[in-house]
Amino acid sequence: MCGIIGYAGRSEAVPILLDGLERLEYRGYDSAGVAVVSPENELQVVKTKGRLSVLREHLAEQDPLKGQIGIGHTRWATHGEPNDTNAHPHVGADGKIAVVHNGIIENYLEIRASLERKGIHFASETDTEVIAQLMEYYYRKLGNLMNAVYAVLGRIQGAYAMGILCRDVPGQMIAARKDAPLLIGYGEDGNYIASDVTALLAHTRTVTYMEDGEVAVLTADSVQIYDRERAPIDREKHTVDWDVSAAEKGGYAHFMLKEIMEQGEAVRKTVSPRLQDGRIVLPELAESAEFLKGIRKINIVACGSAYHVGMVGKYVLEKLLRIPVDAYLASEFRYSEPLLGEDTLVIVISQSGETLDSMAALREAKKGGSKVLSIVNVMGSSIARESDIVLYTWAGPEIAVATTKAYTTQMVLLIMLGIYMADVNGRVAADEYAALVNGITELPEKIESLLGDVDICQKAASHYFNRNSVFFIGRNLDYALGLEGSLKLKEISYIHSESYAAGELKHGTISLIEPGTLVVALATYAPLLEKTRSNIVEVRSRGADVIVVATEETAPAVRDQATELLIIPSTHPLLQPVLGVMPLQIFAYYVALNRGCDIDKPRNLAKSVTVE
Ligand code: AGP
Repeated sequence: MCGIIGYAGRSEAVPILLDGLERLEYRGYDSAGVAVVSPENELQVVKTKGRLSVLREHLAEQDPLKGQIGIGHTRWATHGEPNDTNAHPHVGADGKIAVVHNGIIENYLEIRASLERKGIHFASETDTEVIAQLMEYYYRKLGNLMNAVYAVLGRIQGAYAMGILCRDVPGQMIAARKDAPLLIGYGEDGNYIASDVTALLAHTRTVTYMEDGEVAVLTADSVQIYDRERAPIDREKHTVDWDVSAAEKGGYAHFMLKEIMEQGEAVRKTVSPRLQDGRIVLPELAESAEFLKGIRKINIVACGSAYHVGMVGKYVLEKLLRIPVDAYLASEFRYSEPLLGEDTLVIVISQSGETLDSMAALREAKKGGSKVLSIVNVMGSSIARESDIVLYTWAGPEIAVATTKAYTTQMVLLIMLGIYMADVNGRVAADEYAALVNGITELPEKIESLLGDVDICQKAASHYFNRNSVFFIGRNLDYALGLEGSLKLKEISYIHSESYAAGELKHGTISLIEPGTLVVALATYAPLLEKTRSNIVEVRSRGADVIVVATEETAPAVRDQATELLIIPSTHPLLQPVLGVMPLQIFAYYVALNRGCDIDKPRNLAKSVTVE
């Protein structure tokens, strides 16, 4: 969704802003723009609909915008269509103040009407222009920029992360945040603001996460943060351990392929610090043994692929803990009057840690008296900060919109949590515990060996890339896996796809199967192999082409029914989905490649979904 970068320093701002915006491109956007204060204290704004390349062309057509302080924005339209006028930055009627903004101002219509009654003319349809116009109005009235900023923050309702420039205070950039991420970066040649740490990695890894209600004033040499009452505050600085190469393609054609290939290492980084002498060690839970013993119910809440991890978790944690475990879509959970309380643990899963629906579900859970444990990839993100307990996946930055390594690491970590809780509650036998830990220990190598040979998946993709519809079927953990396989395929290739519990076919879906229908059958979960095999026979006998994903152990039983057979290494049945997802990711990737799709930035999608 929208992205913000801002710079106050000693170098030219435009190249830094463009580089930052390029690194935010993956979030999804439809227009982009920059504002820079010139050495002559002019406020210069260039903005346009379309990709950054169009903005670059516009900037090249003009004299390069000179200036060492500036703000930039990529916009994902919410209020008003994507066009040049609605693009950010927005400037007030006096041309003095420019604003970039992420989030939604809920009472913008009411403020706009009141400003229009005062004769102020609006150029765009956006909620953000209201901020710029209102700020100029207060600036005119109060004669002081910070007074105007606080006056605006007192009037607007909703969510915002914003960067502000004023030509009358040319060396200062102001930032403000509420319910939308914004961080400050401390560089050698100046200071930065950004909505996402990846925009800063080329310049600095020393950052501060702004909190709700805070305002910051940045110059080339200083940063001062203020609280809601305008009292100066000191905030801890963090060192981000991601480096800039982690957010670059490194020779791969797409981030998605790079991130698929990084899964062995991402899982290794996530699990190895948590395995010691054959035991799972979760220091984050060291003080929580009594609480863990009192849990009677678990609700896993997430969106999209993270929800699919939750579905795997439902099956695995229920088997291990023998208490009810449910997986909910966050957008449904928050409005479903969920049954909560002290003995219910809510687990929120999110790569970005900023997904609005997941965040709202988290708050609902806390309101209902439940503790929230989150599994998050982005350090310091909103979900991480509001949770009672956080387990970080150490997947590194994930840039492709279609998640791969974050999904896999979330799943491994959730399963580790389940084993840990089962152990605390005396629910897992010593030999089963050892088998699971051994399986987890071996996962990174098995992933690397699986990903070392992707030819068969690639070949299958080149046979079937022109199908209009694909069905995924599987039982139990394979059903949960199919949900993710189907999403992966449809989101990047735009092929219609559905996923069904294989036993459910005969209750309706099987009427869709006709000669030539493509079915991807997941037969990796050994305990239900015979049942799944019967379902494969059902679709095969109705003429479907069936790609079967099986393990070294299950393959012999299904080989005769497969049009194509994709074999993955065997592991403990509860860990099998970690390996099972990989052929599905690779298949989706090569299908999309064959269809010429924009793999890293699929149409209409954004990496982190910060609107409802
Ligand atoms: C999947 O490939 C998508 N990118 C999407 O479903 C994603 O998993 C979902 O939006 C949740 O995002 P989060 O993990 O950042 O909360």
